[in-house]
Amino acid sequence: MLSAQAQDEIRSEIEKYPKGHARAAVMAALRIAQNEHGWVSRDVMEHVADFLEIEPIKVAEVATFYTMYDLKPVGRHKISLCTNISCALRGSEGIEKHLREKLKIGFGETTKDQRFTLQEVECLAACGGAPAALIDTEYHENLTPRKINEILDALPWPRGKFEFVCLNPA
Ligand code: FES
Repeated sequence: MLSAQAQDEIRSEIEKYPKGHARAAVMAALRIAQNEHGWVSRDVMEHVADFLEIEPIKVAEVATFYTMYDLKPVGRHKISLCTNISCALRGSEGIEKHLREKLKIGFGETTKDQRFTLQEVECLAACGGAPAALIDTEYHENLTPRKINEILDALPWPRGKFEFVCLNPA
């Protein structure tokens, strides 16, 4: 289920930790597996657990806690819009409304053409540039409807390699 390349990448992540602590690489392993499969299914979690020689529940605990792991298929581009306090005070609700109208989807949904998935997230640690969103792997701040239109219109299409959102690279 994990390609030879993915396995090599995970091995190199494991090597960053003391011997016997492969479990510490679980976040990186999930990122690598998600990059390969596009999302983290139960099977993927089990393969990661097997590879790290830990219980599947330990992988599931991490995968279900962080919003950067997708537990169902997502579109080519993932828009993670922050709606936490700073962004809310600076207009994230208007950005959300704009995106709902533009894309015809709500939070947790993917456009019919599989181009975009919209996700609500907690603070992205970009409060100084609120309202903020993470779109694929890029931070975008001080969003306005016009600005987000320009960003989305410039994104590549059709579907290509999956991109993964990693807020805390090892
Ligand atoms: S509240 Fe939105 S980035 Fe912090």
